[in-house]
Amino acid sequence: MREKKKIGVLTSGGDAPGMNAAIRAVVRAGIDEGLRVFGIRRGFHGLLNLDAVYMSLRSVSDIINFGGTILYTARSQEFATKEGIMLAKDNCKKLGLDGLIIIGGDGSIRGAKELSDQGIFCVAIPGTIDNDVNCSEYTIGFDTAMNTAMQMVDKIRDTAEAHERCSVVEVMGRNCGDIALQTGIAVGATAIIVPEVAYDFKRDILDRIKMTQKTGKKHFIVIVSEGIGKIKDVAEKIHKQTGIETTETVLGHVQRGGSPSLRDRVVASEMGVKAIEIICQEKESKIIAMESGRIIACNMEQECQKKEFNLALYNTALKISI
Ligand code: F6P
Repeated sequence: MREKKKIGVLTSGGDAPGMNAAIRAVVRAGIDEGLRVFGIRRGFHGLLNLDAVYMSLRSVSDIINFGGTILYTARSQEFATKEGIMLAKDNCKKLGLDGLIIIGGDGSIRGAKELSDQGIFCVAIPGTIDNDVNCSEYTIGFDTAMNTAMQMVDKIRDTAEAHERCSVVEVMGRNCGDIALQTGIAVGATAIIVPEVAYDFKRDILDRIKMTQKTGKKHFIVIVSEGIGKIKDVAEKIHKQTGIETTETVLGHVQRGGSPSLRDRVVASEMGVKAIEIICQEKESKIIAMESGRIIACNMEQECQKKEFNLALYNTALKISI
């Protein structure tokens, strides 16, 4: 008699709140379907080193409310090479895996596609705070990260208001301005700078501060997506050209941690269960995605283009931050 189907699950790239909820869903739904589930530790790095542990129903107890990932994560340089991909493929065979579930962002999903091109059955689950996965309108961790950023900026706002200052705050997102845009709207920022819209200091920051100053505004929040440039320079420029005392804050990794929001726990659970459904019913590699609020599976090829920016929402922000 053939042994029960064996699958692996790993988390890769930057961790995101809700990854643990996704692991839990994969393990529980997988066992329910009669699969043997192995956790590969430290992402693709662990796959290259055959670092696999057996996951039981109880091995994922009491993790749904925790940020981080119990499987650890890594950004593997070795996996990004041709030799790395071949070794990963051989190791999937050595471990006897009939399928591999990869939870991660756009880079990890590209890695999943490379492995899939070598004949390994992969199912990717979008997990990253950046929300930068093209085929999915939502990625696990985005909601928690935005709420963390919003709460932090609310606190900065209190002191900016008390001192009648301008606060420049940098948020994460690598090449994707979604965290900056939505946080910016939620905190009532005067200016929001994102990588998808070419940045002009006078038009996007200076003129907006001066315009709102004329109608009596005395404190200002400027949200800047990481990668735009040094926010210290932006803050100095604002001070020099307006006379307003200006501070700068990089929120950094605080946005990646913390207990996942309800939305992230629920979406992670739905996506984990959908991944197991694909493992059991299909043969072709897929990416689990959200489309019009529903959890679906799409082809790996759909991840080749860059995600379209929500320009309508950006224009909404401009209209009301006056
Ligand atoms: O991809 C998630 C993310 O937090 C990005 O927003 C950021 O650019 C990057 O990871 C930071 O990576 P690391 O934690 O490796 O410095």
